[in-house]
Amino acid sequence: MRAYEMSAAAGLGSWTLAQRPTPEPGRGQVLVRLRAASLNYRDLLIAQGHYPFAVHLDRLIPVSDGAGEVVAVGPGVRRFRGGERVAGIFSQSWLGGAQVADMWQTALGGAIDGVLAEYQLFDEDGLVTLPDGLSFEEGATLPCAAVTAWNALYGLKPLRAGETVLTLGTGGVSIFAIQFARAAGARVIATSSSDAKLEKARALGAHDTINYRTHPDWEREVRRLTDGVGVDHVVEVGGTGTLPRSIAATRAGGQIGLIGLLAQGEAIDPLAILGASCIVRGVAVGSREMFEDMNRAIALHRIAPVIDAVHAFDAAPAALAALAEAAHVGKIVVRIG
Ligand SMILES: NC(=O)c1ccc[n+]([C@@H]2O[C@H](COP(=O)([O-])OP(=O)(O)OC[C@H]3O[C@@H](n4cnc5c(N)ncnc54)[C@H](OP(=O)(O)O)[C@@H]3O)[C@@H](O)[C@H]2O)c1
Repeated sequence: MRAYEMSAAAGLGSWTLAQRPTPEPGRGQVLVRLRAASLNYRDLLIAQGHYPFAVHLDRLIPVSDGAGEVVAVGPGVRRFRGGERVAGIFSQSWLGGAQVADMWQTALGGAIDGVLAEYQLFDEDGLVTLPDGLSFEEGATLPCAAVTAWNALYGLKPLRAGETVLTLGTGGVSIFAIQFARAAGARVIATSSSDAKLEKARALGAHDTINYRTHPDWEREVRRLTDGVGVDHVVEVGGTGTLPRSIAATRAGGQIGLIGLLAQGEAIDPLAILGASCIVRGVAVGSREMFEDMNRAIALHRIAPVIDAVHAFDAAPAALAALAEAAHVGKIVVRIG
């Protein structure tokens, strides 16, 4: 089978195409013929050597998010059979309940082999069934970006109808957050660097939009739009570069899901958090249980993942380069086979 491998964090040239034997499932294992993979900012961080969590760089198969069909099962497998349409879960050990201690040590495409390959073996516990009605390309967008957005909105302090959600930028996580918040009956305020991208965010359900380039003090706009109160939830993908403004945009008792590190800034003043009386909560993707809860909502509300572009398997490095350009809205996908 063909698989991409990386053995050094060599930037955009990290991924090389290689031949490997097609694996065979052992006891409790499922062989999946992968049909699509989707890229996350994490894949860029790993390729650039900037990822802060466990990475195993000995012929690593990159990328965490993939979908495909079951082609063989090993002895003892009960959860899946041949022909079923599945996606791998990001952390193969976090099945439900509180976050497990080895979450990053079992993360696909980082600590263990990922999905940018024609076939991959999974433990039967490490897969979920794709929601009805989604293509393989759409299903491949879910494991990291969508589950992270879901965990940010539902993992600690579940979003309620009528609350206000602030999303930052129009990348994979943020677009899913807009769609989930909208489906929940929440009000969405979305920011972006670009008016054209904001138009797409409005078409997806954002009620109010702010261009953070033309409004560098965007937290003031958020306060104005919420009659001075602030928002209930922030899906915080920027990190130190945006967190002080996110804190200033949040109401007392509101929650900031701290997810990303897209924007560099100064150290955070703890007094700002105290003064805002808000919750700042680290979000680490999510569990299989969250993935399954989210899939029910996706099927019920017919939420269609937003795919910006689909690249051929042979052109996967070009897909990574496109992610680095950050011109996309939603997800960049690689079709396999
Ligand atoms: N903690 C976790 O478990 C977890 C899980 C998933 C992702 N993440 C992290 O979350 C972040 C987003 O991931 P992703 O895969 O969604 O990324 P992505 O699809 O590559 O999103 C990139 C987009 O973010 C926006 N952006 C860039 N700088 C910004 C800034 N200063 N303020 C606001 N928006 C900005 C831009 O959109 P506009 O041009 O529209 O502004 C850009 O196109 C990354 O740092 C990633 O590592 C963490």
